[in-house]
This record gives sequence, structure tokens and C-alpha cells, in this order.
Amino acid sequence: MKQDLMRFSVAMPEELLMEFDQLVARRGLAKNRSEVVRDLVREALIESKCSMPGSIVMGTLTIVYSHHSNDLQEKLHSIQHDYFENIVSTVHVHIDAHTCLEVIVLRGEVTLVQDVANLILGTKGVQSGKLVLTTTGEYM
Ligand code: NI
Repeated sequence: MKQDLMRFSVAMPEELLMEFDQLVARRGLAKNRSEVVRDLVREALIESKCSMPGSIVMGTLTIVYSHHSNDLQEKLHSIQHDYFENIVSTVHVHIDAHTCLEVIVLRGEVTLVQDVANLILGTKGVQSGKLVLTTTGEYM
């Protein structure tokens, strides 16, 4: 797909530019300065959108818990049924004989997605977890 590119130049202190070039190098041979700048702009726009109440977002919540915790699996299961309209999919991985990892994919208004994630993270027995938010595909 051919895209029209608007160009603009940026003045930058030399030291900052040198550090930036190291970042470009770390992102690999396929990325040049322009592409890394575009990536960073997209990251900033996504972060900004995900911090605005009312935005529709996607979330991935990763949690780790013990399979032996009292009725925890039942509680997690019940929360996921309560919010079936916002929970797109769940992947369950048995890490070892005792420990489970779940990745729960959420979609919806950002405050609601955060609330559902906090409800799950706050359930007694969930050992660790983290919610990562992104947009529904804007800023490509
Ligand atoms: Ni398991």
C-alpha cells in the first residue's frame, strides 16, 4: 500500500541524537531513523488513547496462580462469565504440577477493562499479574 508521507525535520541536541541512533541500532537492521520515530509516535498515541476514559481498547491480562488455591479457579471462572461481553478469549497454560498461567484478552471501554483486570488481580490467591493495553488498531 502506497502512503503519502508528510516530511518534517527535527532539531535535536547532538547527545540526544547519538543516544537515539543507538536505540535505532538496537531495533535491528530493518529499522531506520524514520521508522523508529514513527514507531515512537504510534506508541505515544496509543498510550495517550489508552489513558482517556471512554476509549475502546484491547487489553491482555497475564496472571499466575496456584492450581491448589482454595476455589480460586472457580472464582476466576465466575468473574469471566460475569464479563463475557468484555472477555474475548482466555488461554490457560499449566506451567508445572502446581502453577497455572492465564492470558485473558479483554475488549471494551478502558475504565471497565481496568476494573475487570483489577477484580481478577485482586482475587485472593492470584500471585502476580499485569495488564497491557493497546488500541483496537488505530495509528497503523
Ligand atoms: Ni493449570
